Amino acid sequence: MTSAITDFDCTHLSVVKDTSGMDKLIVDNPLAYCEVYLHGAHITEFKAKTATQGLLWLSPKAVFARDKAIRGGIPICWPWFGAHPTDKNQPAHGFARVSLWRLTQAKALDCGGTELCLTLTDNAETRCIWPFRFTLEYTIKVTEQLEVSLVHINTDKQPVSIGGALHSYFKVGEIAQVQIAGLAGATYLDKLADGQACTQSGEIRVAAEVDSVYLDCANDCTLKDRALGRTISICKQGSDSTIVWNPWLRKSQQMADMSDDGYRHMVCIEAGVVNGKALAPGEQCELAQRIEVVSD
Ligand code: BG6
Repeated sequence: MTSAITDFDCTHLSVVKDTSGMDKLIVDNPLAYCEVYLHGAHITEFKAKTATQGLLWLSPKAVFARDKAIRGGIPICWPWFGAHPTDKNQPAHGFARVSLWRLTQAKALDCGGTELCLTLTDNAETRCIWPFRFTLEYTIKVTEQLEVSLVHINTDKQPVSIGGALHSYFKVGEIAQVQIAGLAGATYLDKLADGQACTQSGEIRVAAEVDSVYLDCANDCTLKDRALGRTISICKQGSDSTIVWNPWLRKSQQMADMSDDGYRHMVCIEAGVVNGKALAPGEQCELAQRIEVVSD
């Protein structure tokens, strides 16, 4: 598998082994810098060349191990979001984020950017967890913006229901100085209050633990960060919901892969599919997201 990575004639791409022995793809082109692990097809860093800071937060205590999801960056939660709908023994947020993906395409674009495609197909391990055949194709376009597209193709002979999220962790200067716009008026389920339905009033400010699922929500968002002096635009497609998550102090202290004050420097704004999408045999669906700094 590793040898196949180098078969692509793409000068923007290099492949390294990190200190834990995992394969990491490094894209360094005239427009941006980006790092992607084959483990989980997990993007851990993106920085446009014109920006002063990277867009994504990666926990300084993130664990890089075969059976763990990396804390930070963009974990791919798939084929379900959160707890498995019926079986508590199944991994939270599905298995895509702890599966080993293959690099199936890498090309330099005329605009100076780079496009990668990583693929995950069902195998004996995935079929033990989720007994269906599938192909997942994750396209990562690295320009001044970071564009990702996750396509699920149902290669099974029966219909399936799928869900998930692009669980992006955004880097912020200081959580108290952040405002999230775009969700005013939306109904959300407050997971910290037994899923109570609430209505979002105005912009979101995070001043305590938050774990909210905004339903029927295809809205784009902006993340205004006064401490870093920048605004990030977050646009999405094929998503029925937006999840906003920050563990705050007590949960950060309880999580082995978060530093105690980690919550001050991140917020997750996730493009979700929480209601489940039905796919007939041969059918496919796409979940996509485009993020960029719009003022820096
Ligand atoms: C969010 C969920 O999407 O992910 C939270 O809404 C959860 O409930 C969080 O705690 C982090 O999940 P995990 O599995 O990466 O620790």
